[in-house]
Amino acid sequence: MIQNDCSLSFHELLKLETSKIHKEVEFLVKINSPQPALSDYIDYIVVMYKIIAPLEKIALKYFEFESSFPKTTKKNKTQKLKLDLDSLDIDLNKINFSIFVPEINSFAELLGCLYVVEGSSIGSQIICKKLYSLYGEELKNKMNYLNGFGRDSFKNWIYFIEYLENYTTLFPDKKNIIIRSALETFNCFKTEFKNVIT
Ligand code: HEM
Repeated sequence: MIQNDCSLSFHELLKLETSKIHKEVEFLVKINSPQPALSDYIDYIVVMYKIIAPLEKIALKYFEFESSFPKTTKKNKTQKLKLDLDSLDIDLNKINFSIFVPEINSFAELLGCLYVVEGSSIGSQIICKKLYSLYGEELKNKMNYLNGFGRDSFKNWIYFIEYLENYTTLFPDKKNIIIRSALETFNCFKTEFKNVIT
């Protein structure tokens, strides 16, 4: 792990520490190819659902006690994923939650997970545009998760990052826990995306 360089903000450090695994995940997902198939889109949101749904369940317990946490991050992604899967005729009962969900025993660990989940919506905007251009009609109203909160998505991200900066200024000893948890979370996604391929 890179030693905390004081000239970097915590966000910059976290991004740096996770950039290698982010690239690996980006490389793995078929939806990132120039001409993804519709089935690649389904595979993508199935993986997101398998990990995000159980994570959001755990997160709810922590949100009860963190009143200062940005409301926008508390918005439910599982609901949007369910809506999309349902409209694509995917039987939710047949999807098992991932067994690779990161272990969360503290709020700091949750923040590391949320960094990955929230950050993934930045890439989602890019994928969404591509899928619209390829399958606009077929996927009409079936990309609620990727669309996120539309124009507010980036604003929500900024609020989350601001919260993270304030939190780690107050609790600098939590920085390494957050980084470790973010890496662990990325690894879970990587494993699930690999399982799609094999
Ligand atoms: C599917 C293909 C994907 C593409 C094309 C993509 C692309 C991007 C891009 C362009 C950014 C902005 C980078 C910047 O501001 O310099 C970003 C950020 C991010 N993405 Fe992805 N991404 C993808 C998938 C994912 C997935 C599956 C995850 C998580 C499982 C993820 C997690 C993140 C995170 C955490 C950030 C925030 C980085 C920061 O701290 O600014 N991405 N992504």
